[in-house]
Amino acid sequence: MAKLKIGIIVGSTRMGRFAEYPAKWASELAAGRSDVETEIVDLLDYPMHFFGEERSTTAETETAERWKKKLRTFDAYIITVAEYNHAPTAVLKNAIDLGDFIHKPVGFVGYGGVGGARAVEHLRGIFVEMSAASVKAGVHISYPEYLTVVKGEKKLGDYPHLNEALTAQIDQLAWWGNALKAAREKA
Ligand SMILES: Cc1cc2nc3c(=O)[nH]c(=O)nc-3n(C[C@H](O)[C@H](O)[C@H](O)COP(=O)(O)O)c2cc1C
Repeated sequence: MAKLKIGIIVGSTRMGRFAEYPAKWASELAAGRSDVETEIVDLLDYPMHFFGEERSTTAETETAERWKKKLRTFDAYIITVAEYNHAPTAVLKNAIDLGDFIHKPVGFVGYGGVGGARAVEHLRGIFVEMSAASVKAGVHISYPEYLTVVKGEKKLGDYPHLNEALTAQIDQLAWWGNALKAAREKA
């Protein structure tokens, strides 16, 4: 069976963002598997207009098309989730509004005060509306863990429970990803 293609979306564009740590960790952990292949997709590389904006430039519109096209090359997604005021980042929400995730599974790797849980719960509802399937297994990096990584004392992969949670998430993405791929091909 061909490897399932998972796009790892870096959901924050903030200078000095934490988001790069979970994206790299997910990519490294998945590299040890034979059933999936991943690619990191950085929203910094897709500077888009706000959805529906009248005065969007040609470059922004072309970037949004490129973003949608890129998303369509994947069978599943992992999204790094920062929590800004108990919600996902605005840049991620806009990218979702401009995106295409129909009939594909999505997993979330959150971080922050409560492991990004509030932002992740928002996203689960948003992705239902995008006709995507949010997998059950969440990854929540707690604030103490976040701090050890920021200080360079530990890596995310040093935490067995985080590796376990991410492995469970990728297992579920693979199951749903293959099932939905077959269903899309049949339709
Ligand atoms: C505008 C703003 C709002 C924030 N609100 C929350 C919040 O509601 N809950 C939380 O746990 N952390 C909050 N934080 C702290 C973030 O979890 C922390 O800055 C994290 O590193 C953001 O992700 P990023 O570095 O990948 O952008 C907030 C940070 C910013 C900049």
